[in-house]
Amino acid sequence: MRLQDKVAVITGAGQGIGAATAHRMASEGAKVVVSDVNEETGAAVAQGIRDGGGNATYVRADVSNVDDVKALIAAAKDAYGRLDVLHNNAGVHETNFTTDQAQSFELPEEIWDKVIAINLKGTWMCSKYAAPLLAEAGGGAIVNAASIGGLIGYPMGAAYGPSKAGVVQLTRVMALELAPQGTRVNCYAPGNTDTPMVSKYYDTAPPGEQEMIKQQLLGTHMFPRLGEPDEVARLVVFLASDDSSMMTGACVTIDLGTTAWRGMRT
Ligand SMILES: NC(=O)c1ccc[n+]([C@@H]2O[C@H](COP(=O)([O-])OP(=O)(O)OC[C@H]3O[C@@H](n4cnc5c(N)ncnc54)[C@H](O)[C@@H]3O)[C@@H](O)[C@H]2O)c1
Repeated sequence: MRLQDKVAVITGAGQGIGAATAHRMASEGAKVVVSDVNEETGAAVAQGIRDGGGNATYVRADVSNVDDVKALIAAAKDAYGRLDVLHNNAGVHETNFTTDQAQSFELPEEIWDKVIAINLKGTWMCSKYAAPLLAEAGGGAIVNAASIGGLIGYPMGAAYGPSKAGVVQLTRVMALELAPQGTRVNCYAPGNTDTPMVSKYYDTAPPGEQEMIKQQLLGTHMFPRLGEPDEVARLVVFLASDDSSMMTGACVTIDLGTTAWRGMRT
């Protein structure tokens, strides 16, 4: 068990990649603080882990709210007495594939502010308040969710792309600054992975457009499929565990090859 008796906080763990990671970390022996702004889904994931014999507790937190973030880290300490892993997973992708609204300069300012506040500022704030506890535990691991959208340009990527590029750079800065405390900081950049964040675009499209949108989503993958949340969760466990002890400041692509070519499969 690669995370035996480690304590992990995972933000945005009510569904998708965060939920898959919560289950994976619990199965690797971690005590998991499942956090999400959505109480129903977050509590259900924690309950599911406990039902399976794992150790998990749910704490509600909006990562863009500093009081919530402070309370989340304090709750982790109260529940388990220490903190070894912070997975900054919470994120939002707000744009619109089918209207002009998504084009960069037509994006409403509120969406720009919200995406940056959750994806980038949330990652910074959770790390800021978790870092002292990670140091106290002898040096821990911070694992940040970036995206290929933060590495390469793509249409309608305003706000989301810059927020994730910021996460990549924040990862490097924090890695440098937290190294003296023994804490490693890494991030990973997934390609399109089959979670509600992605499926909402084809599920909510008019029936005639759904297949086309799906094909666009997987068209940049060398293998003609979407990623699975658990495939990303397995990478997060690796980055959170001593298996990656030589890694810090890295950004690992997990994208079915998207960033390794410049084509679109036909
Ligand atoms: N799915 C993909 O293809 C993909 C690709 C690249 C990067 N990512 C990144 O991986 C992470 C997880 O993505 P996902 O696909 O599982 O997303 P998702 O939308 O399926 O799940 C995100 C979770 O975050 C929660 N959340 C949203 N705002 C929050 C806030 N302010 N505070 C706390 N929780 C909040 C939601 O309630 C939800 O449970 C995100 O950071 C996303 O940007 C996903």
